[in-house]
Amino acid sequence: MKPTILLYDSGMGGLTIYDAIRESLPDAHYLYCFDNAYFPYSEKSEAVLIERAVSIVQKIAENYPLDMVVVACNTASTVVLPALRERFAMPIVGTVPAIKLAAQISQTKTIGLLATKGTVVRPYVDELIERYAKECVVERIGSTDLVEIVEEKQQTGSVDMQRLQKVVAEWQSHPTLDTVILGCTHFPLVKEELQQLLPRVSFFVDPGNGIANRVVSLLQDVKRNVNNENKENQAFCTQNSEDFSKREKVMQNWGFKRLNVLNFDEK
Ligand code: DGL
Repeated sequence: MKPTILLYDSGMGGLTIYDAIRESLPDAHYLYCFDNAYFPYSEKSEAVLIERAVSIVQKIAENYPLDMVVVACNTASTVVLPALRERFAMPIVGTVPAIKLAAQISQTKTIGLLATKGTVVRPYVDELIERYAKECVVERIGSTDLVEIVEEKQQTGSVDMQRLQKVVAEWQSHPTLDTVILGCTHFPLVKEELQQLLPRVSFFVDPGNGIANRVVSLLQDVKRNVNNENKENQAFCTQNSEDFSKREKVMQNWGFKRLNVLNFDEK
């Protein structure tokens, strides 16, 4: 039987994680929720992120028995995992900046963490650096703008390079930075543009493949909930918007049958 996997993010970023998982598990039943009512997550409080995580999983689980939840968002994962694991029995997989991998790859031992404003200041991230990258210099850029640039790219197909350049300006002349961690799931969607602006960086690290491996290995122990052989992949958002049909087309291009609006008001 196919496993049903729910991924959620504030926006389109989590699709980079979905893409990596889908490569390993092309036949799983996927549900993807983007929380457009609360986009962007970057500067939202920890309490809000926890409340959103619990509400979204609960709401979707009412209609779709879930075998696994993937929090396809670093900003949320650095905060919400304990609350989700306490409340829900299915395995919960998080996405956190690939600091260990970056520390192993970097030749110069100078790493850049490119993430949201929230993620770069989380104690969770400090702990990862202390644990895995003690011998490295870790520079941090926290940006909400970059998340919005990527979201725009998903809708329009183009990137405002000047705006993007401003985000990474301080690294363009960095003498030793050779590795950049894409610490927000949106950012792999502008990897090529970032490479153009940071030609001296040799490695851009994102956690997609690591997460896909983790999902595959955890699913081996999961007893499947229901027979969902004929279920279609579905996308969800948390509020209606003017660009709904445009967004639905984007999600259909990623392999989702329909875009549904989650209604949190009804009892
Ligand atoms: N994609 C998310 C992340 O990985 C959050 C983007 C946002 O809404 O700020 O951090």
